[in-house]
Amino acid sequence: MGRTIKIGIIGSGGIAGVHARTYKDIEDVEIVGVADIFPGRADHFIENWGLQQAVGFDDHRKLLELDLDGVSICTPNAAHYKTTLDALHAGKHVMVEKPMSVTLEEAVGMVQASKEADKMLNIGFQPRYDPNMGLIKELVQSGQLGKVYYVETGGGRRRGMPGGTFIRQEISGAGAMADIGCYSLDFALNTLGYPKPLTVSAYTSNHFGTNPKYHPEADRFDVEDFGVAMIRFENDIVLNFKTSWAMHMDSLGATMFLGTDAGLKVLPKSQGPWGGVWDGHVGAVSLFHDIQRHHTESVIPLIEHEIDVFAEKIRDFVRALREGGPAPIPGEQIVRNQAILDGILRSSQTGREVVIDIPDF
Ligand SMILES: NC(=O)c1ccc[n+]([C@@H]2O[C@H](COP(=O)([O-])OP(=O)(O)OC[C@H]3O[C@@H](n4cnc5c(N)ncnc54)[C@H](O)[C@@H]3O)[C@@H](O)[C@H]2O)c1
Repeated sequence: MGRTIKIGIIGSGGIAGVHARTYKDIEDVEIVGVADIFPGRADHFIENWGLQQAVGFDDHRKLLELDLDGVSICTPNAAHYKTTLDALHAGKHVMVEKPMSVTLEEAVGMVQASKEADKMLNIGFQPRYDPNMGLIKELVQSGQLGKVYYVETGGGRRRGMPGGTFIRQEISGAGAMADIGCYSLDFALNTLGYPKPLTVSAYTSNHFGTNPKYHPEADRFDVEDFGVAMIRFENDIVLNFKTSWAMHMDSLGATMFLGTDAGLKVLPKSQGPWGGVWDGHVGAVSLFHDIQRHHTESVIPLIEHEIDVFAEKIRDFVRALREGGPAPIPGEQIVRNQAILDGILRSSQTGREVVIDIPDF
């Protein structure tokens, strides 16, 4: 038996339930408080999840007065920055849901605050816990592809637009690119060892979300439902990134890594109108290479597993809390992911390529 790890949850909507369920399952972890800005929602969540020992708050700053080891931030994207900063300033370790923030400036501020407070800033990208994602990274990092110079990734839902807090720019910051695109970016960048992005040229649109034929909340929809971007990185790598919540097409194509010695093609497992995006489950991986000058495609066997990637990300955060760090998926790294999302919004607004400038930490 270890000492009891005390947790607070800020934002008690959909994803907070996954956090609560897992914390409850871990021995010697106690959820001692929940905060939600919507009056009464935190109390309702506490009752719903049987967290008798927890106290509910309408203001996250009150929650942060409690004795807590770590905080799960499960608010809509636009509130990630303020709640994370308040939690770090209150001396708590933070696990914030994806995407990290809305702007690059916010992401940089969050990393700086975690350094100043000497507290962990961990970002909740659960697909990292799929062993097949690890297998792909190992393969690319092994050098078998030679020098990787071109990557293509993204995911296209034919029709999978959320509603509620996800479609208002003032609450979500952005649409499909931030909501599901951040996963593809994390997959590609983590596989490459998170190279530094230098420039972005992007286009975004919202022809589906704003059309009542396709979305029941079309009158309040003001984020992008489609986007495409060309991103240049250090070490002479380019990335073609595209994401859709809705389109008249079955797929935006495979993820591919082109190298001087071989190419790798990766397909996601999920299919159907809401499928085709990176959610932590790999469908197929093949290596394209030459053997004795013959063009060869080798199918890479996948690792069979029953890992609950959502639960694993919470467990890893708790492990890090017990061991005193480091953050399993550090803000310092994900700031590069956020920098691309920020660059996409800036570039699509101006119709020009923009430069990405990330300070050294
Ligand atoms: N990792 C995943 O697979 C995954 C899945 C879904 C959502 N998410 C992310 O989780 C976050 C929340 O998504 P959701 O689906 O749970 O949204 P949601 O709208 O269901 O819940 C958000 C809750 O936060 C509350 N809230 C808003 N501002 C607040 C503030 N300042 N302080 C306290 N509470 C506040 C709202 O009242 C609401 O109850 C988003 O960033 C989203 O991108 C991640």
